[in-house]
Amino acid sequence: MRNRMIAGNWKMNKTYTEGVVLAQGLAKELADGTGDVDVVVCPPTVDLKGVAEVIKQEGAPFSLGAQNVYWEESGAFTGETAPGMLTNIGATYCIIGHSERRGYFGESDEDINKKAKALMAHDIVPISCCGEPLEVREDGKHVEFVVDQIKKDTEGLEISDPSKYVVAYEPIWAIGTGKTATADDAQEVCGAIRKTLAEIFGQETADGIRVLYGGSAKPENVAGFLEKEDVDGALVGGASLKADSFAAMVKAAM
Ligand code: PGA
Repeated sequence: MRNRMIAGNWKMNKTYTEGVVLAQGLAKELADGTGDVDVVVCPPTVDLKGVAEVIKQEGAPFSLGAQNVYWEESGAFTGETAPGMLTNIGATYCIIGHSERRGYFGESDEDINKKAKALMAHDIVPISCCGEPLEVREDGKHVEFVVDQIKKDTEGLEISDPSKYVVAYEPIWAIGTGKTATADDAQEVCGAIRKTLAEIFGQETADGIRVLYGGSAKPENVAGFLEKEDVDGALVGGASLKADSFAAMVKAAM
């Protein structure tokens, strides 16, 4: 019912030239296709066009995603990227609400909600991130913390096609640290996310929304997460920067 998804978040890594090489390598690794698995690659903004060209030239079986967007259509917003600019170069996904953007750039749930609405108006699929910091996990309040984020981030959204809205649960203490949540930790929160989505949008819609796990996901551990009922894939940082490791994760999901 839900196609699995493996999404790569390159973060601020890879120049334009390096990004093209990585995308070409990935196209080669995945030349035999990805079955029912939806694969998304999210390079830095300046690399997007180059990766779009590789996808077109090689007929590569992955989609293009951005890492950030602004909600206005155009205007005096120095340094920002409008949703229409992303569609124009072929991006069909966009990560929003990543903990690094929340933490380092002060992005609020209200901003994330506006970004989701702007993206959906342009038929770009948001990959909306949520997740708790270590102290909240240690206090045992992680489920209520994430449920609160989900409620705020989805406020007023209309989801007519549940395959076009994706949530990524990324416990902050597990991102880039090598410390992974266990598959049971991921299931506990991903299950609570789906329950919350069902309360907001109805069960049928919630059953169609992909909920990904992210945080030190790698070829060796991804299968364990995917076995869980409410974990539909992975948002991958570090392990997406090498074509062979990212492709291995896609293959593990097939
Ligand atoms: P990581 O990053 O896989 O390097 O932990 C995941 C993410 O932040 O999306």
